[in-house]
Amino acid sequence: MGSGKGYGKTILFGEHFVVYGLPAIASALGSYTTAEVKVVDGKGWEVIDHRPATPGYKEKKYNEAMQAIKNVIEHMNIDTGCQKLEITFSGDLFAASGVGASAAQATSLARAINDSFTLMLNDEKINEAAYEGEKAYHGTPSGIDNTASTYGGLIWFKKNLNGGKNTMEIVNSGNKIPLIIANTAITASTVEVVADVRKLKKANPVRFDKIFSDYHSVAINAKQALLEGDAVSIGKLMNQNHKLLQEITVSGEINDRLVEIALNNGALGAKMTGTGRGGLVIALAENVEVQKNIAKAIEMKGYDAWKTMIG
Ligand code: MEV
Repeated sequence: MGSGKGYGKTILFGEHFVVYGLPAIASALGSYTTAEVKVVDGKGWEVIDHRPATPGYKEKKYNEAMQAIKNVIEHMNIDTGCQKLEITFSGDLFAASGVGASAAQATSLARAINDSFTLMLNDEKINEAAYEGEKAYHGTPSGIDNTASTYGGLIWFKKNLNGGKNTMEIVNSGNKIPLIIANTAITASTVEVVADVRKLKKANPVRFDKIFSDYHSVAINAKQALLEGDAVSIGKLMNQNHKLLQEITVSGEINDRLVEIALNNGALGAKMTGTGRGGLVIALAENVEVQKNIAKAIEMKGYDAWKTMIG
């Protein structure tokens, strides 16, 4: 038997923009998905999924998840014609749109197969296998989710649009800053939302050039603010990033409402994170007291809110 884990993630800056080669910043979460792989008699593979999840999430993502698992197994050259893999997923990562649940699942599986078959793969190879899994969720993933899931920590990521190695740097943040993650409980389709942005960009090239250039400045300033642990600036930049995401139409009504609740309750900044049109919202707090108040205000409106730290 072999086992492995993959971290959840939250994108602090740059979802969607990262698909077009702009830099993004993601923080791995302390929560993770675990996979256990047992080789049994038979052929093919079977999945037992014990991950906690937003109601409807697993059903909506079922076909993509099965394809992702197949991609990882095939990429790792595991022959399932004369043996069967019994794969069990669990862990404390709450599977929801926006938390990198698909990447965490693929990464944990790649690590468990690596362990089970003693393949001795390094993190780079695990990350490549997890990326193959991500392709099942949409054809052109940037790779940020599987990279955060594999390496953990706070990362600066830039996709290489020419197919070469992506850029990945660990950002050593100057401070630990409290973050709230709020769940709209709506599961969005990454493939659909990414495709919509592509269409909109094609129809509005000049407008998108300006938005991309504005976002690029946000990303550069955000990296600096994170290095300095300057929570006030990070918050302001999150607000700017959210506005740009609204402009490319990927935020949703509930995302915007949760952002507003967070800001009205003292957040330094707030934005949607991940695919958008549902999924999650993140909000930055200056201290744990304010963090508690924001989480409470969100919960009082009937939405789940989790407390974590970045940096
Ligand atoms: C999804 O977590 C992040 C997106 O930017 C897609 C991607 O990077 O592949 C929307």
